[in-house]
Amino acid sequence: MSNGEPMSRMKVAVVEGDGIGKEVVPSALRVLDAFSLDIEEVPVEIGYGKWKRTGKAITDGDFNIFESCDCIFFGAITTPPDPSYKSVLVRIRQQFDLYANIRPVKGMGSGNNIDFTIVRENTEGMYSGIEHVFPDAVHSTRVITRRGSERIAEYACLLARGNKGHEGNNRKRLTIVHKANILRSCRLFREVCISVADRRGISWEDMLVDATAHRLVLDPERFELIVTTNLFGDILSDMAAALIGGLGLCASANIGEDYALFEPVHGSAPDIAGKGIANPIAAILSLAMMLKWCGKAEESDAVHDAVSRVMAAGVMTPDLGGRCSTAEVAEAVAAAIEKEQAT
Ligand code: NAI
Ligand code: MG
Repeated sequence: MSNGEPMSRMKVAVVEGDGIGKEVVPSALRVLDAFSLDIEEVPVEIGYGKWKRTGKAITDGDFNIFESCDCIFFGAITTPPDPSYKSVLVRIRQQFDLYANIRPVKGMGSGNNIDFTIVRENTEGMYSGIEHVFPDAVHSTRVITRRGSERIAEYACLLARGNKGHEGNNRKRLTIVHKANILRSCRLFREVCISVADRRGISWEDMLVDATAHRLVLDPERFELIVTTNLFGDILSDMAAALIGGLGLCASANIGEDYALFEPVHGSAPDIAGKGIANPIAAILSLAMMLKWCGKAEESDAVHDAVSRVMAAGVMTPDLGGRCSTAEVAEAVAAAIEKEQAT
């Protein structure tokens, strides 16, 4: 199911979460309303607000609801001030084995031709969770497996061929990012990625992660598709966000075999929450990724086109130098879609 194949009737678990999640998620759903699609939205409350009320940020019941849905559309949650708190998102990624974290990095507006996608392994690497604490040292274990590397490389190759759910239609060059000159775990990752790319007929290059950081700043337009390990992908993708105008524009997808979670890259932004000025574009573009994943490529493209038109017309929130509210931007995107459909 899914991953670009059409779904007849969809059931989406909708998590607004905390802070600006409560503003950008309804905005994205307003854009979804511009299409007449048969999508059932199931609201699920998880996060800091729930933790304050009940002592738990997420319950087994919430997981049961997630299981009854096709995917999750997620806003952002505030991390509760509890030292024993285990990240809700990490738990969801583990439960549904969402091994591929996809972050498109696309410049908006003229003169910015940045357009690449980061494919980050989402379940192992430095985030294996295996840590040994000694009195004067802590050992964090970096786990790279052949299976984990193979499946993320396969996913990246499908994206490179342009026939996976959410990104791109042209054949792309794959950049395999690693630190194989130092880390044996990276040697395995590199070797597996190269053999998968060769087997799939994808043109590739490989690059050390430090050199990649350098080149991303100097010449971001040269990149097309990056595949890398968990921590490297985490860091490079936040850096990449800065290249295209900030967190308010960055969408992401967490993809597994038959389940997925779509979310803006940003968090709950307590500093601007409740003011109605959060940029909804990251959430709206995450919605576009969801539409593509569930086989609605035309609608997904329509969202992208509408966002470009609205931004070109200067309808933007203050983080991009505009004066519009969250709701005004979403309304403009929805109206642009409705206008296009009427013609
Ligand atoms: P953040 O992404 O919430 O905010 C960082 C900065 O970017 C802030 O100045 C914020 O105002 C700005 N910003 C973020 N999104 C924006 C948007 N859509 N429009 C305009 N400006 C925007 O990261 P921060 O402040 O480090 O974390 C706040 C809370 O969110 C923390 O509790 C953190 O743990 C949580 N968090 C949750 C995530 C998630 O649920 N996926 C991801 C990252 C952080
Ligand atoms: Mg991060």
